[in-house]
Order: sequence, then structure tokens, then C-alpha cells
Amino acid sequence: MNHTKMAFSISLFFLVSIFPFQCSSSLSSLNKGSSLSVEKHLEDIIVPQNDLFSAGFFQVGGNAYSFAIWFNEPHPHNPTTVVWMANRGQPVNGKRSKVSLLQTGNIVVLDAGRYNIWSSNTASNKSTELYLKDDGNLVLRELHGTILWQSFDFPTDTLLPGQPLTRHTQLVSSRSQSNHSSGFYKLFFDDDNILLLVYDGPDVSSIYWPSPWLVSWEAGRFRYNSSRVAVLNSLGKFTSSDNYTFSTNDHSMVMQRRLTLDSDGNVRVYSRNQASKWQISWQFIFDTCTVHGICGGNSTCSYDPKRGSRCSCLPGYKVRNSNDWSYGCEPMFNLNCNSNEATFLEVPGVEFFGYDNNYVPTTTYMNCLNLCLQDCSCKGFQYRYGGGQSSSCFTKIQLLNGRHSPTYEGAIYLRLPKSNNYSMEQSVSAYDHVRSVLLPKDYVGKRPSRFVRFFLWLATAVGALEMLSLSLIWVLLIRTRQKSSADPQGYNLAAVGIRKYSYPELKKATKGFSQEIGKGASGVVYKGILSDQRHAAIKRLNEATQGEGEFLVEVSIIGRLNHMNLIEMWGYCAEGKHRLLVCEYMENGSLAENLSSNTLDWSKRYNIALGTARGLAYLHEECLEWILHCDIKPQNILLDSNYHPKIADFGLSKLLNRNIIKKSNFSMIRGTRGYMAPEWVFNLPITSKVDVYSYGIVLLELVTGKSPTVDIETVVGEEAYNGRLVTWVREKKSGQSWVDQIVDPRIGQNYEASKIEILVKVALDCVEEDRDVRPTMRQVVEMLQCQESDAQ
Ligand SMILES: *[C@@H]1O[C@H](CO)[C@@H](O)[C@H](O)[C@H]1NC(C)=O
Ligand SMILES: *[C@@H]1O[C@H](CO)[C@@H](O)[C@H](O)[C@H]1NC(C)=O
Ligand SMILES: *[C@@H]1O[C@H](CO)[C@@H](O)[C@H](O)[C@H]1NC(C)=O
Ligand SMILES: *[C@@H]1O[C@H](CO)[C@@H](O)[C@H](O)[C@H]1NC(C)=O
Ligand SMILES: *[C@@H]1O[C@H](CO)[C@@H](O)[C@H](O)[C@H]1NC(C)=O
Ligand SMILES: *[C@@H]1O[C@H](CO)[C@@H](O)[C@H](O)[C@H]1NC(C)=O
Repeated sequence: MNHTKMAFSISLFFLVSIFPFQCSSSLSSLNKGSSLSVEKHLEDIIVPQNDLFSAGFFQVGGNAYSFAIWFNEPHPHNPTTVVWMANRGQPVNGKRSKVSLLQTGNIVVLDAGRYNIWSSNTASNKSTELYLKDDGNLVLRELHGTILWQSFDFPTDTLLPGQPLTRHTQLVSSRSQSNHSSGFYKLFFDDDNILLLVYDGPDVSSIYWPSPWLVSWEAGRFRYNSSRVAVLNSLGKFTSSDNYTFSTNDHSMVMQRRLTLDSDGNVRVYSRNQASKWQISWQFIFDTCTVHGICGGNSTCSYDPKRGSRCSCLPGYKVRNSNDWSYGCEPMFNLNCNSNEATFLEVPGVEFFGYDNNYVPTTTYMNCLNLCLQDCSCKGFQYRYGGGQSSSCFTKIQLLNGRHSPTYEGAIYLRLPKSNNYSMEQSVSAYDHVRSVLLPKDYVGKRPSRFVRFFLWLATAVGALEMLSLSLIWVLLIRTRQKSSADPQGYNLAAVGIRKYSYPELKKATKGFSQEIGKGASGVVYKGILSDQRHAAIKRLNEATQGEGEFLVEVSIIGRLNHMNLIEMWGYCAEGKHRLLVCEYMENGSLAENLSSNTLDWSKRYNIALGTARGLAYLHEECLEWILHCDIKPQNILLDSNYHPKIADFGLSKLLNRNIIKKSNFSMIRGTRGYMAPEWVFNLPITSKVDVYSYGIVLLELVTGKSPTVDIETVVGEEAYNGRLVTWVREKKSGQSWVDQIVDPRIGQNYEASKIEILVKVALDCVEEDRDVRPTMRQVVEMLQCQESDAQ
């Protein structure tokens, strides 16, 4: 390591300047009493044996330098990627500044030869050296002895493979891509052992990841491992002690990698081959508009999966600093407290997170408006249409974290002076283009969002709020939910990267598509064994109706849906006309097979009902673009080795052809008419309530053991959909001791009548003709869940 001990001797400098091309000017280490000088920042650099990194003075501005570590660039035109910085907020002068390893064993950065602006606070009387390891870790150690200091213990905004984030460290974003000073975003473990992203702005701070309205277990996090350590390995697998894990989309390949908390508040993993450019191979947040503070106050963020996100000022507001939207927008009007001089402008489909002065769960628009008028500090109100009684009102004292959300059924009403003609958004930023510029060929970033759920949570978990800080809300949600909930599992949003497979690879895995295990309208499913010995269900879609790009977008949406009651997608293949999906394999086959072979006792059936409802609720409510299943039936509910249900084939309606939802393609779903909602026949709008209907029928089948499938060729129109099964159960239910009469005789006597009653009630609600009367899947889960915890 120490082969340039002479490096700092005057004679070597002399030689270097005479023979600049002959001699590698970099050093392998720095010894006591020697320094790196800012004037020679091009040659005074420490380089590891593998030559991948450099440590030395890095120019951050005109006459400003910081002591840093960066990736060596194969191409002189590539921008340098800094991975660590000692004095990020306090660069030093380009004259007489130095990094020195003092005789005391302390490393110091001296500005203009005088001011000590950074030091490692180390001391040693032994011989020590500062050197850069092959993994990018700058280490100060006593010769053949103790490590006194290492840069891996003091990360800035980047973790390198093998560098752990611990309870003592955090990542802090840069202020902007060019300004390396500390920015507003932080990644760290909180006191509950959960890895968090926090916006820590000049005025306010709030947690935005995991989604603040999810309790930790719903976000797939585990609070009870206090080791608090997270690390990315060199093959692209990230593991955190709170069970947030993922594999990058290029995992198991040998590449250069880094994990960076970018200045826009998102954490991204970048990777590259030796000579190529950095590509995003994973990101924590897919819809960047869910990052708090991104557009500043009085503005809204809109997200487009192809173009990225952009900010715009609300009507009546103008941007403060168009080069830096985090300053937000300022009003162009003066509002006084006189309610006669105020009016409200509706901005539909826009949602503002937090800063509610008042929350009224069921109220009219006029009440909400008056509530805002009476309060001088009210800047506007959020009114969420819930249909009839359930509309809710939130009056806002600040307009922060605004976001366009196409599925949000509500609007923000801005308080403006009466004599105004503001109607348009006044200033609009350009798209950040993060998505389109950096989108590598098999990476598509688009993440269903859970923003919609915030107000639901607010309504159920917290009552009227009085200006609680967002973090307090979050903590409160955790505490209240944790106590009331008996279910420690649930959502597992921590998605795992999906892999691209080649066609020959899958052909081999399925032994030439020999073992067929299922068949449906969309294609045939084969059993296969992947090269890593995992058993997989490999679905071969019938026809390539979509281009590769569009297919990949949909696959990535489906692939990132991750829930214990949804079949997990591991990968896909899109080559030529071949379109295949690789999914997990379920030992116990489908619910249909199990119902007919009489393997399901009463408690298994109840768990299947509950699990299926959870999976569907997740599909309906967690996704920005609601994913309707449209083909819920026992054949599509698979059972794992413990008879836990997992829904298969969700999202296929998206993959095959969007038109499947139109009546013209009715034939595709003919075979399962017994489970179909009347909307299909009457050509009514198709909403998530079609799945609720089908689910209701499956419940009835679970209880009675009778299949609803009617003779599809002979029945046309209304009757078919009222199904004999539904009518039969309704009739029985009006009589005496009906439970015993309808229950599947194969269950035997070992069942709880009260739970059957609930199941049947829920089922009949679900199969109501009028889709507005049917409950949502979330409500179904609540009804079944509370029944379950009563029993415990
Ligand atoms: C180094 O030596 C000095 C004097 O010999 C002593 O005072 C000091 O404590 C020693 N420091 C360490 C870290 O051993
Ligand atoms: C970088 O950001 C810091 C913190 O916001 C600011 O004080 C500084 O002026 C910025 N530097 C440049 C060169 O813009
Ligand atoms: C967290 O991960 C560990 C090990 O992978 C597993 O044993 C444990 O059940 C997980 N905890 C939760 C709550 O998922
Ligand atoms: C806690 O997390 C660490 C690091 O991820 C892991 O090695 C350890 O097994 C976990 N402990 C438990 C009890 O899950
Ligand atoms: C947003 O507008 C309000 C007035 O409606 C103003 O008080 C506040 O300072 C503005 N926020 C920002 C970030 O400009
Ligand atoms: C309405 O807008 C026009 C031009 O945009 C402006 O000249 C006029 O003063 C505005 N009127 C009011 C009442 O603000």
C-alpha cells in the first residue's frame, strides 16, 4: 500500500512537474506530517489500488473547494460523482488551503492556511496513515493496527456498497445538484427503529416516507429489531433491520453502485458498468410528488410517469424563486379578515396534506365554507366528496404539500379577495425529467400512491385536529393503531425488484412448457423451476397485443404491488411476440380445487375470506390508478402451504388490452358469468364495485359450498346476474335456523354460527344490484376483521 512514501518530498514534486506524463501523480496514502494542497488539487489526490475513487480537494465553486471522495470518471466529459464530503457547507479558499495529517494523529482541513474548519478529532502517538480502500472508504489507521477514523462512519448523502447506515449516522441530501451544502431531506432510523425520510425545511418538518398515514406494519416495517442497521450490498440487495428490503432491478450483476439521497428528497440506487453512465436501478419513492416540501408552499405538484414531476403556483400566487421552487409561491393579493370581502375559488383534483386547523367529518359545503370564513388564518379549505352524508371538510392554515391527484374526489377551495380575476395557474415549472432522462431500458419507475388514503385515516384514527405537527399525527397513528390491532402482519409494501428473463431461460425452466397447471382467457400457466431452484408459475400470455414499452410499464406497476394476499410477480419476459410473467408458485392450488376436494375447514374458510378481502382492498385503494381485478373467482384465489389466500391474475386486464373493460370484449369473461356484476350487462360504468360483487359471490360459495355458475348459454339479461345462489340464500335467510340450512355440509358441525351470519350479511351486501349500496373492500375488511378480534 505504501509504495509512494516519498510522495511528498520536494524532489518528487520536482520530477512530476518535469515529467508530467511519466509519473502517476496520485498517492496511495498520507502519512503524519504531510498534506494535500488545494493549489495542486489535480495531483494531490489519494487513490485506492483499484483506481475507482479519489480523495482530495474537489472544486465546488469558482474559488471554493471541499475535501471529498468521488468516483473516478472513465470519460472526462462525465460529471464527477461525489460520494463523501468533509466540509460540505463550508468550502475553503483556492489559495493556501490544506488537508493535513498532523503529528498528533488529527486530520484537519485548513482554510487559507489558517482557519481550522474541519477535523477528524482523532489522536494517536503511533505511526498512522490515511488511505483510501477499494470500496471508497477513507480510513485513518495506526500502522497494522486500530482504525481511528473512517469516512464510512460519517456519510453525507451517499452510501456505498457495504457501508452501513446505523443508529449513529444519517444521510442528508444536498441543497441542489450543484450546491453540495446540506439540504432539507434526511434518511435515518427513528426511535421506533423505523427507517424514515423526513423533510426538515426552514419552517416546518414532516415525515413523508413511509407514508405517514400508514402504521409501521402496514408499511411492511418491523419495529422490534433495535439493531438499526441498513446496508446495500455489492450485488444490489438492500436490507434494513426494520425489514425494508429490496433488490435493484439489475441485482446479482457485478456493477459499481451507490445509494444516494438526492436533493429532491428521493433515495435512488444508481449503478453502472465500468465505462457507462449512471442508471437508476431502484428508488424508494415512485411518485416524487409525495415528497414533502418539493414545490414549497402555496403550490401544487403534478406527476407524470413519463416526464417526471413539476410544480405550479396556485391561482393568485406567483413563484418566489423560479430557479428554486422549494421557496414556493407568494400571494399577489392582500387578504383582510373581513369575511364579506372574501370569495373562494375551486381547484378540483388537488389535495393538500396536513396543516388542518379544523376537521369536520360529515358536513356540507356551505358549513365548511363558513368555518373557513370565520377564521382569519384560514387560507382555504379542502372538501372531500364522500357522497351524501360522508363529505368531509378540512380548513387549512397553510397550503403545503399540494398535489394533483387524478383519483382524489374532492377539491381545494382557495380564499381570495372578491375582486379578483385569478383563474389560471400563474407560474409553472418545467418537468424535472428525472424519469425520462434516466429511464434505462428495463427500468420503469411508476409507483402507485397511497395519498388518497390519508383522509380516510384521518377520519378513522384521529378526531378533530388542532394544528398538530405532522410528525405528531404520525406518531399518534402508530400508537392508536398498534393498540387496537391484533394483526401484526398485513401490508408489505416493500417491493422486491422484478427481473427480466430471457425466453430460452424460461423455456428451460418449464422443460419446454411441458407441465401445464392452469389455463384462462389470458393464457396458459406452466410450472417451472428457475435457475435458483425456486418453484415458479410461469404464465404465457396469449398474444402480444402491446408493444414492449407499454407492456413493461404495466408489468412494473403490477410487479411493485406487494401484499401478502397478492401473488408476487418475480419477473417477466418480453421478446419478440413472447410475453411471459414469472410468479410465485402456490403449493395448494386454487380455492376452486380445494372447495371441490373438501380440504377446507371452517377457520381456513374464514381466513380465506378475510385475506382475499385484504388483497382486494389493497388493489382498490392503494393504487393511484385503481387496479380492478374484474375476474374474481375461486380459480383465481390461490392457497399457499398454510392455506393463506393469494389473489392471482390481478392487473391482467391492463396487460392484455385496455378494451377488456368495454362491453365489446364481453366474451373474454363469459366463462365466469356467475361471478359478474350486473354493470357488465347493463353497460354501466365499471368501478371497483364489480370486484366487490364477485367477492360477495365467492363468499357465498365459501359458506354454502355451492357454485354460482349458471348455464351461461341459456340465460341472458338480468336474471342471470341475480344468480340462483343469491336468491336461494336470501330466501333461506328469511326463514328459521337458516344458518344450518345453508352451510356447506362438508364443514361438519364445527363452525361458529355468528361468524357465518356475518359472512352471509357481508356477502349479500356485496351482491346488491345497486353498486352504490355495496360496501367498499376496505369496509368489508373492517367488518370481517372486527368480527375476528371479537372472537379472540
Ligand atoms: C501521546 O504522548 C503524549 C506525551 O508523551 C501524552 O501526553 C499523550 O497522552 C499521548 N497520547 C496518546 C493518545 O497516547
Ligand atoms: C448553497 O446552499 C446554501 C444553503 O441553502 C446557501 O447558503 C449557499 O449560498 C448556496 N451556495 C450557492 C453557491 O448557491
Ligand atoms: C422480518 O424479517 C425477519 C427475517 O427475515 C422475519 O423472521 C420476520 O418475521 C420479519 N418480521 C415481520 C414483522 O415481517
Ligand atoms: C435484526 O436485524 C439485523 C440486521 O438486519 C439481523 O441480522 C437480525 O437477525 C435481526 N434480528 C431479528 C431478531 O430479527
Ligand atoms: C403562502 O401564502 C400565504 C398567504 O396566503 C403566506 O402567508 C405564506 O407566506 C405563503 N407561503 C410561502 C411559502 O410563500
Ligand atoms: C384582471 O387581469 C387583467 C390582465 O390580466 C388586469 O389588467 C386587471 O387589472 C385584472 N383585474 C383585476 C380586478 O384584478
